[in-house]
Amino acid sequence: MYLYVAGRHSEMERSGIELRGRTGIAPRGTAGRHSEMERSGIELRGRTGIAPRGTGQRPVQKIKLRRMSQMKIYEAKDYQEMSRKAANILSAQVILKPDCVLGLATGSTPIGTYDQLVEWYEKGDLDFSEVKTVNLDEYKGLDRENDQSYYYFMHEHLFDRVNIKPENTNVPDGTEPDAEKECARYEELIRSMGGVDIQLLGLGHNGHIGFNEPDSSFAKVTHCVDLTESTIEANKRFFASADDVPRQAYTMGIGTIMRAKKILLVVNGEAKADIVAKAFFGPVTPEVPASILQLHNDVVIVADSAALSKIPR
Ligand code: GLP
Repeated sequence: MYLYVAGRHSEMERSGIELRGRTGIAPRGTAGRHSEMERSGIELRGRTGIAPRGTGQRPVQKIKLRRMSQMKIYEAKDYQEMSRKAANILSAQVILKPDCVLGLATGSTPIGTYDQLVEWYEKGDLDFSEVKTVNLDEYKGLDRENDQSYYYFMHEHLFDRVNIKPENTNVPDGTEPDAEKECARYEELIRSMGGVDIQLLGLGHNGHIGFNEPDSSFAKVTHCVDLTESTIEANKRFFASADDVPRQAYTMGIGTIMRAKKILLVVNGEAKADIVAKAFFGPVTPEVPASILQLHNDVVIVADSAALSKIPR
């Protein structure tokens, strides 16, 4: 586990240099050698090498290294910085592979990330014309016009504000009553697109990702879930009342999410501090679905300081 604190290097971030520099420091299969260096206190060179000479910008400051998994945790001071860093990582993906498949998420956490992407698009720095997207989940029973559907959310916060082609965007169809049919269609769709290049995730208060609720086993593929009372409680703020929150949803499975080539999880706020510590520093268990991410080989967590306030340091 690598933990970074953001330094003053937003220019580099914007250009994508930081992302390459950081991911370049831990090539696959070299974890052992790095851990030797970590134990002996040797600074990894990639990190210090990324600040261009004469820019006066400080490289990323390493505050602690933990070798639990390949996860990289970037600490941002607040929501705005978290959003900008996450948007930088997504932008780098779009620039490096203009026809990439972005796995997208809903919830209040990624709204700032989408706003930042829109701002850079408006400045002419980003082009979504070839980008394809697949969303994580959708409430069962809500149609597209319902302003609480995730289809509506994605159009409101991103799709209608950039030059993405509507036919290149995908959200599970909440109006399809045949759950088996819709989930199989969606899973096959993701496969036919060649898989997800980078999957954006938020984190539920109970550790859910997408709508994969705590369970006794990890769900492999897209499926229909019964939402837990705690999720209904957490999400009722968007509805007129708790009774209006749908009781079921279609969601990518844990297996679907884990097949993404890269994962980017955003999380902020003190209210998520306990679950962050549990999910990323506790045991891997289906009772905390996000804990499975410890086993993915390319996960970046961008979190604000409040969300990281309970992790072991
Ligand atoms: C919903 C979504 C998740 C999201 C979670 C957290 O349940 N299905 O994808 O991560 O809420 O939402 P928020 O970011 O609003 O805390």
